[in-house]
Amino acid sequence: MATGGGQAAAQPGTAALSKRIAGFLRSNGSRVVLHVDLDAFYAQVEMVRTGSPEDQPLCVQQWQGLIAVNYPARAKGIKRHCTVQEALALCPDIKFVHVATYSKGDHEARYHEDPKYATHKVSLKPYRQASARIFSIIERFVPPAHGVVERASIDEAYAELTEIVNRRIVAKFCAIADGPNGIERATAAWEALEYDEDGPEVEWGPDTCVVGLPDPPKTGDENESTPPERRTRGWQDYQLAEAASLVLDIRQAIRNELGYTCSAGIGSNKMLAKLVSALNKPAKQTALRTGAVLEFMRDLPFTKIRNLGGKFGEEVEAAYGAKNVSDLWKYSREQLQTRLGAQPGSWLYDAVRGVNSDEVVRRNMAQTMMAAKSFRPSVTSMEEVKHWLDVLGWEIHDRITEDFEANGRWAKTLVLHLKSPSLDKSRTCAFPPRHMCDGDIIAARALEMIKSEGEAKALPLMRCSLSAGGLFGDKGNGTIARFFGKKMDATADSGKEGAHVLEGDADVGRLEADGCEQDEDTDNPDNKNIATSSDLNSTSPSIKSFFASKPAIAIEETEEVPESFTCSRCGKSLLKSQQSEHEDYHFALDLSKESRVVLGGAGSGSGGSSVAGVKRKQPPGRSGTSDKKLTSFFKRE
Ligand code: CTP
Ligand code: CA
Ligand code: CA
Repeated sequence: MATGGGQAAAQPGTAALSKRIAGFLRSNGSRVVLHVDLDAFYAQVEMVRTGSPEDQPLCVQQWQGLIAVNYPARAKGIKRHCTVQEALALCPDIKFVHVATYSKGDHEARYHEDPKYATHKVSLKPYRQASARIFSIIERFVPPAHGVVERASIDEAYAELTEIVNRRIVAKFCAIADGPNGIERATAAWEALEYDEDGPEVEWGPDTCVVGLPDPPKTGDENESTPPERRTRGWQDYQLAEAASLVLDIRQAIRNELGYTCSAGIGSNKMLAKLVSALNKPAKQTALRTGAVLEFMRDLPFTKIRNLGGKFGEEVEAAYGAKNVSDLWKYSREQLQTRLGAQPGSWLYDAVRGVNSDEVVRRNMAQTMMAAKSFRPSVTSMEEVKHWLDVLGWEIHDRITEDFEANGRWAKTLVLHLKSPSLDKSRTCAFPPRHMCDGDIIAARALEMIKSEGEAKALPLMRCSLSAGGLFGDKGNGTIARFFGKKMDATADSGKEGAHVLEGDADVGRLEADGCEQDEDTDNPDNKNIATSSDLNSTSPSIKSFFASKPAIAIEETEEVPESFTCSRCGKSLLKSQQSEHEDYHFALDLSKESRVVLGGAGSGSGGSSVAGVKRKQPPGRSGTSDKKLTSFFKRE
């Protein structure tokens, strides 16, 4: 049984002790945030599904490209950008699994023997389903009453663990209160720690890598005592170590129940948790002690920090000739503000010291779902168009039915988008009601829309998409619905998942050069674009609508499209080359919303984020109006 919050024993006097410990931790501890990322995710899903041995090199293939490479294959030098031929040359006994596809007549995606780009369309459904199962395990350990789980992508999550960890610590001491003179013994045990000026001693278990400490011994002897160099002191370490034991439980549950390994980072905020989670991949967890943050960051290229990978990072580099985080330490907050603008300067000053107040936020479900196919070469006959409408119609049907089962909602609009030399247009009609809907009916409605547009104009067809829109009312009782909570506001993560595509014609770039192209399988969180626009791609939502639409994340909705990305914040689809600029834009927006941000995040109640044990108040000048710099971010958009 997962123990999210920890239970205080109902002994007389324990309430007072609980309160005392909780209060102490709030003022002496720090925030605890987790970042989890599945190892070679799609590859693991296929390993488990096909019963592949753990040491068998395996790649997930999409047409002629590889979209996931497991760790045994990586050991042979195979990388995601290798072609099938290159991978074979490096490892003749490599196993390839092609992603599931729809072909004509399929009512759901299948693992076809020899799928062809010309006739099949890929589906990410197996990965979406695996993702949902993983998230429901994480949420079991991090129940909404005491923590927050944020889906950052199909295989990544953040969790706010502060309150859960503190409750576990409280529960530990209250457990001592069971039995005769229990409360006296529990109080004494607590006071021995509380009154120790150096703070409690922490023994780091063999399952956690700790930044700055030697790796755990590999003896595998569980009874072996913790070597002295893996012992530290302090309340923040105490909390992190408690979190590490919880995170180990979560990772083991994912492993035991589903068969997947993941890596995890544990730190005092989202930025730090994410920075360390990939340090010891695969299948390891890494903790970053607050006392080790500055040393850890010193030689890190500052562009590794979230939001510094793009244009803003380039600007900083140009302004200061800086490369590593420590190159920026010599500038005061005011100096950075003068040069970069009040809010960006202040944000940067904090970030390079490991201070970051981003909250872990629950995300809403996407309100639209898209199935799209690009054609190379273009489709020239209506016969072929009908084939693809069938495939797309059944895909949308499959997914909307899956969504109905999980969340009890049904689409209201069906949007068709067509792109041909003489047309780049969307048309909308009512979505067939549930009791009389199937893929053929969806396809027939789409065909009617093409006919009313004029068949001649649609040909040669370069791209076609169908979207189900108006998926409102998250009255879900299923698992997926439970991941998404009340909070709609999102701080998206801009990791590698940026490569996913929501919409927009993204058939440019490497895969195509390899004779390998992508389809899309997309959910759009920003419903407005779909339902009302006459041209999806030309919709440019105002800043106001960004705030109003409260985007949910566009996860697991796309297929491998390395040269384009979908913004998980606003659902816009852009070329990969525009990604950093676009992320800067959101970054600027976030800064402008700073006044809204609560330092310390959900449940910490500490009113300040901290590094190296130093509490920080929200710096002045971080809220308020946009300055010139910010205005220029907005203009770019
Ligand atoms: N993915 C993709 N296209 C990309 C990046 C990722 O289709 N450009 C898919 C991959 O197939 C992958 C999943 O999204 O399995 C998660 O991506 P990521 O976490 O970046 O890589 P992993 O394959 O999980 O490998 P790692 O162990 O390094 O996290
Ligand atoms: Ca991963
Ligand atoms: Ca990932």
